[in-house]
Amino acid sequence: MTRLAGKVALVTGGGRGIGRALALKLAREGAKIVLNDLDEAPVAETVKIVQEMGGEITSVVGSVTEPNFGERFVAAALETFGDVHIIVNNAGYTWDSVIQKTSDEQFQAMLDIHLIAPFRILRAATAHIREAVKREDERQEYAYRKVVNISSLAGLYGNAGQAGYSVGKAGIVGLTRTLCKEWGRYRVNVNCVAFGLIETRLTQPLTSGEAHISIEGRELGVGIQPKLLQAISTMAPLGRAGTPKEAADAIYLFCSPESDYISGQVLVCGGGLLM
Ligand SMILES: NC(=O)c1ccc[n+]([C@@H]2O[C@H](COP(=O)([O-])OP(=O)(O)OC[C@H]3O[C@@H](n4cnc5c(N)ncnc54)[C@H](O)[C@@H]3O)[C@@H](O)[C@H]2O)c1
Repeated sequence: MTRLAGKVALVTGGGRGIGRALALKLAREGAKIVLNDLDEAPVAETVKIVQEMGGEITSVVGSVTEPNFGERFVAAALETFGDVHIIVNNAGYTWDSVIQKTSDEQFQAMLDIHLIAPFRILRAATAHIREAVKREDERQEYAYRKVVNISSLAGLYGNAGQAGYSVGKAGIVGLTRTLCKEWGRYRVNVNCVAFGLIETRLTQPLTSGEAHISIEGRELGVGIQPKLLQAISTMAPLGRAGTPKEAADAIYLFCSPESDYISGQVLVCGGGLLM
């Protein structure tokens, strides 16, 4: 059974990790995917996998932090598939350091990716959603649209070395709760999923020296010392880190029709870990 047949789902940061797992899950459930990522190769790979599954997908390569990205993303969805039903603001990365070593540029970059970009994407979608809902009202069709924003335990409880990241991930909770109140009238469920430890390149074990990711020309250190990883996994009542598929499943709960009367909520997907 496909639960999301005919729905158009926009996913940012869908080339790798949680975003890719989500794109595959939504496509398997029948949604048409509008996939974004900064990097072309992982986007092309995800597109290929979805197409091989028989799914429908289009892509918008580029940084969500470009000022007009929201308009471009929504326009691609409308031109290709004619609607916007699900928006998942997933793109993100870490740029960590203790506060005295955090530059203005670094702090701002964390706000830009985790807070400003989702704000602009959602703002860009407003005009279409309002008009589409008006037409649906006239036809007495009462389908629900879905927004899922991605936060972190760092956003809910803070985390040493992550001032900018934590503030961005806390801010997105405020945006979620406000849009829940503004968009209820348009039948949009606006929720947030906050992850604990999920196994992706951001949390890879630093077994052989350093690991880096490249974000818009910046080489940024990522990864976690194996001993710390083990400690965090052990602290989680389920005793392990989560997989990207399990993380995507948590987001899916808020994309499915079963969440039609749930809005403004933050779901923690962290194996029971509460920092
Ligand atoms: N992995 C975890 O333990 C964890 C925990 C809490 C929250 N999160 C959040 O989950 C989300 C997904 O992260 P992940 O762990 O899958 O990481 P990931 O690095 O595997 O995937 C993130 C994707 O976002 C893309 N991206 C980064 N900057 C972008 C930009 N400016 N524009 C477009 N795309 C961009 C990357 O290219 C990458 O493909 C992020 O928001 C992250 O902060 C992850």
